[in-house]
Amino acid sequence: MKIVLLTGSPHRNGTTSILTDQFAAGAQAKGHEIFRFDTAFKNIHPCLGCDSCGMNGPCVHKDDIENELIMRLVDADLIALISPVYYFHVTAQLKTVVDRFYSRTGRISDKQAVLLAAAGSDNDLTMRSLRKFYTTLCRYMRWQSRGIVLAPGCSAKEQILRTNFPKEAYELGFKL
Ligand SMILES: Cc1cc2nc3c(=O)[nH]c(=O)nc-3n(C[C@H](O)[C@H](O)[C@H](O)COP(=O)(O)O)c2cc1C
Repeated sequence: MKIVLLTGSPHRNGTTSILTDQFAAGAQAKGHEIFRFDTAFKNIHPCLGCDSCGMNGPCVHKDDIENELIMRLVDADLIALISPVYYFHVTAQLKTVVDRFYSRTGRISDKQAVLLAAAGSDNDLTMRSLRKFYTTLCRYMRWQSRGIVLAPGCSAKEQILRTNFPKEAYELGFKL
């Protein structure tokens, strides 16, 4: 499969980078092809809602989403959303990319997907909105979810390395 990893963290060496690396290692061990787009380190711009694309055409922004990513998403078999939780959601950087799906919505539909996320807190609210967002997005995009790894109670790399979540991320990639 062709897999596109969309990461949301501005930390190159944080908790979700561990999940990303482990998921990718598991998927690569099974021979899947990985394309990784680290949204926080790219030149990206939010959707203007201008509708110039008509939901099926070039975006007015000629940035890294339009130039490097969007056709990878169109060609992908599976899209991985990987983010720290920021105020109960993915980061703004990752949400910027999700909003830009708009320019090719139909062509990014009918794929497989996974969600991996980490958060500092660990209570009933920590992952609730993020999980709902993901399941709603999957339904709207007609994506088949292949799995979710949510790592609450992990504020930093040292914490997540003491948990089973990195192994779960590897296994999620490996089972694809
Ligand atoms: C702006 C901001 C908002 C955050 N919001 C939440 C939150 O709503 N819930 C939570 O549990 N943790 C929250 N966190 C903590 C991060 O989710 C947590 O530290 C995560 O492990 C960071 O992942 P990273 O190292 O991959 O960037 C927030 C952190 C920042 C900087």
